[in-house]
Amino acid sequence: MASLNLPSATPSAPSRRPSHPLFPKPTNFLTTATRTHRLRICATAQNENSPVETSQGNVDRRNMLLGLGSLYGAANLISTPAASANPVQPPQLDKCSTATNLNTGEKLDVNCCPPIIDRIVDYRLPPVFQMKARPSAHRVSPEYIFKYNMAIDRMKRLPADDPRNFMQQANIHCAYCNGAYDQPGQGGLDLQVHNSWLFFPFHRWYLYFYERILGKLIGNPTFALPFWNWDNPKGMTIPPMFLDPKAAIYDSKRNQDSLRAVVDLGMTGNKDPLQVVANNLTIMYSEMIRGNADVYDFMGQPYREGTAVNPGPGSSERGSHTAIHVFVGDPREPSGEDLGNFYSAGRDALFYCHHANVDRMWTLWQYFLPSNKVPDKRITDPDFLNASFLFYDENAQLVRVTVKDCLDNLRMGYDFERVDLPWLDYRPPPQTAKARITRTASTAPRADTLFPLTLDRVARFQVPKAKKGKADELLVLENITVDTTKFLKFDVFVNDEDDNALELDKAAYAGTYAQVPHKTANRKATTTIRLKLTDLYDDMDIADDDSIVVTLVPRHQGPGVVIGGIKIIENPPKATAASP
Ligand code: C2O
Repeated sequence: MASLNLPSATPSAPSRRPSHPLFPKPTNFLTTATRTHRLRICATAQNENSPVETSQGNVDRRNMLLGLGSLYGAANLISTPAASANPVQPPQLDKCSTATNLNTGEKLDVNCCPPIIDRIVDYRLPPVFQMKARPSAHRVSPEYIFKYNMAIDRMKRLPADDPRNFMQQANIHCAYCNGAYDQPGQGGLDLQVHNSWLFFPFHRWYLYFYERILGKLIGNPTFALPFWNWDNPKGMTIPPMFLDPKAAIYDSKRNQDSLRAVVDLGMTGNKDPLQVVANNLTIMYSEMIRGNADVYDFMGQPYREGTAVNPGPGSSERGSHTAIHVFVGDPREPSGEDLGNFYSAGRDALFYCHHANVDRMWTLWQYFLPSNKVPDKRITDPDFLNASFLFYDENAQLVRVTVKDCLDNLRMGYDFERVDLPWLDYRPPPQTAKARITRTASTAPRADTLFPLTLDRVARFQVPKAKKGKADELLVLENITVDTTKFLKFDVFVNDEDDNALELDKAAYAGTYAQVPHKTANRKATTTIRLKLTDLYDDMDIADDDSIVVTLVPRHQGPGVVIGGIKIIENPPKATAASP
């Protein structure tokens, strides 16, 4: 069966996984507009009576919602460490150049440069009088769909040179993501908002203005974008409203095989929809919780003025986010347009719906994940907080915004409809017996004999642990050189020699690297990822071994990735990375 109409009722778990139901008990928390400092999480059977404190500032947030308080904002965050460089500066719009074709390196015919307006205003978040509620795209009413289409239609009918026009808005993504801008004063170094800690903030601001423009066009200031709830089995298909060919939100450039299929966040090509759902939930658990040792593992690695592109994508960006782009992009088009390539992604209204859920992941991670799982959730580095971008607001005014003003969605005036988080407890079942066999039987070569490694087929090798005995450790894949113009993806498994790489819902799955094709100056970028192994060691009972067997499974065809080295390090004690 190639596709599945997901039932709205909770189906029973597959019998082969009795200990780990496919659809665990519904979790029951979400964003609410009145959340104050001590958020309570009553999420699961196991911690339902134990509220978990989040890492938010010690301030009553209701004040901020009214725009009265500046206590929890930048001011008290910036005190920490000395900058080692400077924040990324906004682009010089008058130096915008044509984007480049992602496959050939030639100039694209698209000019994605915005109209130029001399006056730039520093944007101030307006006071919030009424919270916007972003709805789950699978649950919206006919009235909502009507209004949403009306807004998009009006956006398409704006004059072509109006910066709020649909194509102009799409081009924002092209310009910031396809090498149209250089970093000011950095000798031709590309400005690139992906694959780094700027990923969440940039897209949050992008959607923020997009949403305000749509609201203005229909005279409804509380209009809120829908989010594609692809992290929940009930949302794991393209939201039906996007499939109506007569709708303004329709786009013909989509993968025809994906229109009604279950989203494949693992991109394994597995054809069993129930297994794909199980893979998806495992990926969500892994990228939100299990695989991250610090804030950068989730948010992305530091990107400052003068940093070369792609310092390292966060777990969510390279995982579920990339997968949805590739799932929807049309393979009949030369470069996977529209969603499958950064320069064209914003031409499909579904892009903003997808990114509303990406944005929701950031909010969930910040405010709703138990802090014992993810200890440090704030980046206090001024090079992060003071990085800035330019956008046109709903009045076509060019504004400069900073990262520090977008850390809190409530302060920005929007929230998300409550839905269940079935991945929250989706820890894979222990796999101890298999791991034990693997460790005694392995004949895999040592990693240092194979690297640097061109990853064009499955690779398997042994990596020594940092420390014998129980340990809190990370697997680091470093100097990963990628061809940025290609779709690339590989999965990482530990002690999983004989297993089925089409299934990810097992303890041996350690994480993923993946990228959406895009252009950089010389088509190449060098990047690093880190995967936390601590829970995996427990689940496979291998903490006491000297080494582990790592399997890398590429999901793309042909060359494109060379991995410089692989090693295991001890998880630095909390705070090393980012605090004084
Ligand atoms: Cu800017 Cu999903 O990409």
